[in-house]
Amino acid sequence: MTDLRDNALRSWFLGPRAENAGLLEGLVVEALRDHVFWRRNFHPEDGFAIRELDKRSEGYEDAVATLTQELLGLLAALKRDVPFFSGRYKGHMLFEQTIAGQIGYFAAMLYNPNNISAEAAPVTTRLELEVAAQLSRMVGYDPDHAWGHLTSGGTVANFEALWIARNVNYLGVAAAGAAESLGVGLEVALPGGGRAPATSLPLWELLNVENVAALDLWHALWQCAPKEDVRRALAAHSLSDVGYQDYGLMLEKRYGEALPAAVVLVASTAHYSWEKIVRALGIGANRLVHLPVDSRFRLDPDALWDQLRQFAASRTPVLACVSVCGTTEESAVDRLDRVIEVRERARRELGIAFHLHSDACYGGYSAAVTWGADGQRRSGAQIRRSTGIAWPSDDWVDAVVALEDCDSVSLDPHKLGYVPYPAGAFLLRDRRARDLVAVNPPYLTPATASAADDELFLGRYIFEGSKPGASAASVWLSHKVLPLDERGYGYLIERTAIGARRLRDGLAAADLGRFEVLVLPEPDINIVCYIVCPRSGASLTELNELNEGIYRRMSLNSETPAPEYIITRTRFQSPTYDGAVGSILERLGIPVEEWRAAGSQGLVVLRSTVMDPFLATPGPGSDHVTGFIEALARAAGHGGSQAQ
Ligand SMILES: Cc1ncc(COP(=O)(O)O)c(C=O)c1O
Repeated sequence: MTDLRDNALRSWFLGPRAENAGLLEGLVVEALRDHVFWRRNFHPEDGFAIRELDKRSEGYEDAVATLTQELLGLLAALKRDVPFFSGRYKGHMLFEQTIAGQIGYFAAMLYNPNNISAEAAPVTTRLELEVAAQLSRMVGYDPDHAWGHLTSGGTVANFEALWIARNVNYLGVAAAGAAESLGVGLEVALPGGGRAPATSLPLWELLNVENVAALDLWHALWQCAPKEDVRRALAAHSLSDVGYQDYGLMLEKRYGEALPAAVVLVASTAHYSWEKIVRALGIGANRLVHLPVDSRFRLDPDALWDQLRQFAASRTPVLACVSVCGTTEESAVDRLDRVIEVRERARRELGIAFHLHSDACYGGYSAAVTWGADGQRRSGAQIRRSTGIAWPSDDWVDAVVALEDCDSVSLDPHKLGYVPYPAGAFLLRDRRARDLVAVNPPYLTPATASAADDELFLGRYIFEGSKPGASAASVWLSHKVLPLDERGYGYLIERTAIGARRLRDGLAAADLGRFEVLVLPEPDINIVCYIVCPRSGASLTELNELNEGIYRRMSLNSETPAPEYIITRTRFQSPTYDGAVGSILERLGIPVEEWRAAGSQGLVVLRSTVMDPFLATPGPGSDHVTGFIEALARAAGHGGSQAQ
């Protein structure tokens, strides 16, 4: 029986050969004409700034000629851009955008709303909050208690996560200090159980108040005294007002110990944005602790537990732990359910609490797979009936469902949401925490300060200022056409996971003559990693040269302006990949010591991100699995099946 979703899928994109050009063109014209009508009907009594006669003037015609000529030049130059839309593109996490995303962006761009506040974007700020609520629901948050918004991308979403985590982490200290100076007594819940007066707690315990308890304490503080007094008292004791240097001195005076330098724990496969963020927030790159990953590139929960024990013993506060849902290089999904168990155990047995963030910038949209059209979660078995393959495992489903227990999640519509840049998203489970980073610019405060107006004033709570309302319209329309469940994004991502497995199986079985392909473990989502190896064996240096050469021949660069297929590559380096490379090196016959000694050269690994949903079932035209393998054989220096 035809799966109607498969038919719908064929309408979602312009298509690799622009098969849906007529559809997109019609919608572009519709959006443009509609916008023109709006302008024509807006105060029709107004005169015309540009008259028809003006259009016949020399200056006008010259300007139009310049515009047209330069546009033609731009269009020509863009032909050298990367053909993400094609099945021949098998590189980074990039593919074409949904038609809904494109037309939503185009339509709203004509209005150019600025989602910094409702004053500058009354329509699209609402769409942005709607989209954030949809994404919150998808990760399992209660949208009534959660909050979120769109960012320019994953880096800024991750930044906001740590910015808020840091302020929540020091909130216990700030609230206790403020309570003391206001002369009010407040109790706080302790991670190991029980309650105690906040002002009686030592610094270590104040830095280990759980997020919800810290926010409850803060909330209670606001009820105890006039708002202006509380604001002043908090400002005198909060890190974000005082700044690290004076804060350290202040704590030393008050608690008799210097500010312990808190750490941020990240999976060693974490995106490099985390290093930028700890540098920018003044936490320090040295305080970023990389946790080992296992042979599937997933954070090792046992290693997390060992680290937490060590930090508890040395009384080093843990500011946050970042787990990854869809690593940049491999699309690995950490066993978040197990990370949460470890966090719970640390709370119970060690009395430590920290902010848990999931960097789901790449993989977050795959949570759509876990939702049925009826709004209920689907079991692993139900999803597998739909995919017809062994993916996803029950463990995978448990890990993705566990997103609902994270304090915050970042996930990017401009990655597996298939919408135009810029569109990241930041989601917060307990919306109260956003107030810890709020700033009120007088020129943007709404005229009526009702709660509803307040809600639409995004600029107050976010790091960025001006931002495109067109992005919100784009994501919103795409979610309308592709619901965040098995009918829409869930189906789309299922198809990519199936395609990735077709590609991986094809590579594993490929006969490249003198060469064979060593495929890395099955991806958790859709990024296939592989290494081409001579059958006769090779040293690490020879292997790296071979694969680097293949990458050069299969990527856009000055030597190969028109490669047959486009891939990308990474380097697995020590110590990041210590826990993951053991069995790979063994299969390659390369001693671990040789790899460690290679330093930054590491092990060159070829990568193909499969965001192309059409790879799952080859159409009547070309099959980009077989075509790709033949091209790979040629790039390895040998002619496909003729290879010796
Ligand atoms: C896991 C992960 N986090 C964060 C980012 C950063 O996202 P952006 O490039 O949108 O800032 C990426 C980008 O690849 C990523 O893969």
